[in-house]
Amino acid sequence: MEVENLSFPDAVEFLARRAGMEIPDDGDKEVRNRRERLLALNREAARFFYSELTKPSGKVAQDYIARRGIDGKMVKNFGLGFAPDSFYALTDAMHAKGFQDYELIDAGLANPNKNGRGVHDIFRNRLMFPVIDVRGSVIAFSGRILGDGEPKYLNSRETPVFSKSRNLFGLNLAKKSKSGYILLVEGNIDVVSLHQAGFDSAVASLGTSLTPEQARLISRYKNEVVIAYDSDGAGQKAAQRAIGILEPLDLKVKVLQMDGAKDPDEFIKASGAAAFSNLISGSANHMEYQLGKAAANRNMQNPEEKVAFLKDAAAIIAQLPSPVEREVYAMRAAETAEVAKSVVVEEVERLRKRKLAGARKQSERNAVRAVQTSVQPRSRALKYENSRSAMAEEGVIRLMYLDPALFDGVALQPEEFSSPLLGRLYGILREKAAEHASISMAALGGSFTSDEIEHIAALLQKPEVLSNGQQALRDYIGIIRAGRDALTAQSDLLGYAEKLRNTKGYGG
Ligand code: UTP
Ligand code: MN
Repeated sequence: MEVENLSFPDAVEFLARRAGMEIPDDGDKEVRNRRERLLALNREAARFFYSELTKPSGKVAQDYIARRGIDGKMVKNFGLGFAPDSFYALTDAMHAKGFQDYELIDAGLANPNKNGRGVHDIFRNRLMFPVIDVRGSVIAFSGRILGDGEPKYLNSRETPVFSKSRNLFGLNLAKKSKSGYILLVEGNIDVVSLHQAGFDSAVASLGTSLTPEQARLISRYKNEVVIAYDSDGAGQKAAQRAIGILEPLDLKVKVLQMDGAKDPDEFIKASGAAAFSNLISGSANHMEYQLGKAAANRNMQNPEEKVAFLKDAAAIIAQLPSPVEREVYAMRAAETAEVAKSVVVEEVERLRKRKLAGARKQSERNAVRAVQTSVQPRSRALKYENSRSAMAEEGVIRLMYLDPALFDGVALQPEEFSSPLLGRLYGILREKAAEHASISMAALGGSFTSDEIEHIAALLQKPEVLSNGQQALRDYIGIIRAGRDALTAQSDLLGYAEKLRNTKGYGG
């Protein structure tokens, strides 16, 4: 609340967004009712668009769908629809269902008329793609123009039920896929076309570049991502960025190269599903992809270009934590540049030494900062007695927040917590989870003081990786139980930080 200068509900919403969680909706009846009305309106609107598509007047859209080779089954699975070429078609239909002008505006389906009276439809004469979240609610729309013209797509604006950066088009279907990976593409049409060809784990990121929240969403369902972005320069750049967002979440990443086609839709139409499948099984892993990129457009006969390649390649290889892998790829790069392997290896090791020295400094700094600022609650009354255990307890709380299902069958008791505050919080969260009630900051408002809430908000903001949540939970519990038995171990970290402060002159 203080840092961002927000009211309590706004701070809750801010944190929830940041942590990629649902916006809490059980704190405030009014907020919940408003959200429910908007979702109901979106659902009715989707029904309306769908029925418009099946009418004779929807023939322009049916023809377009046929021209794009989309079959009836996909129309149904994705709930595709048609927004008629009219300013009042949807508005009138929704009025008849009891929705008000302001609700149509709130939902991003209508805009106020210039003369100040009434509202008019935003989506007109477009093929409509409902955006459906993982719980199956229609939260937004994406409307494609029928043919050429600008803008090609019109997307719902951000609304109380829709945040573009936290949703993926098609994930409602892809999350049920049996395949071990998510297929990440750019276009809505690509998603539909891939599902039709049997690749039912395709999703698209709603016209933005992939966000960390979307990546976290993916990691809830699969641990591998195959990127099949457009083969143009922009698509390849976007792929590179996506890799940087996916890998820190421990997601395995592959990048697909579609030579001779601009996107998956075009590739499948030209070469068929079997060829696409081959592309996936043969798709370069991230290392091969990056080395391939570094070599692309470089003439290895030219000494300067050769050196430039080796520098880039060494920088890429130096990132690998495993020495075996460094060997393998150093060999590969050496072959590409036609130099001895030792040339690459030496450069890689030189870079690693430099990187390690930098990383050590950084982690020392982080340790100090962690102890100085974030570990201890700001309020003295809430001070942790055992910071090591408290850190693990905070981790448990975060996991509970992010994925209550992890706790099925877990015997950890609130009394085992060293921090009374965290123990109490854990107890409350556990009860809520048992009742399958939604867990939200807003719901905690009544049980904690504002100092406590402030601290809870801060601890929830710290990063937590979910992709190996069970292991993390086991580790945390191990630390908590060990901590009880060895209270004296209180703070290796505190002591360590103290020592650093004395010797290095950090902090102050
Ligand atoms: P594309 O232009 O590649 O669209 O944009 P597409 O879905 O593949 O459609 P076709 O095959 O060319 O007909 C990729 C995505 O970028 C977003 C949309 O989500 C689209 O699916 N986009 C594109 C917009 O949001 N607005 C635009 O004007 C264009
Ligand atoms: Mn496209």
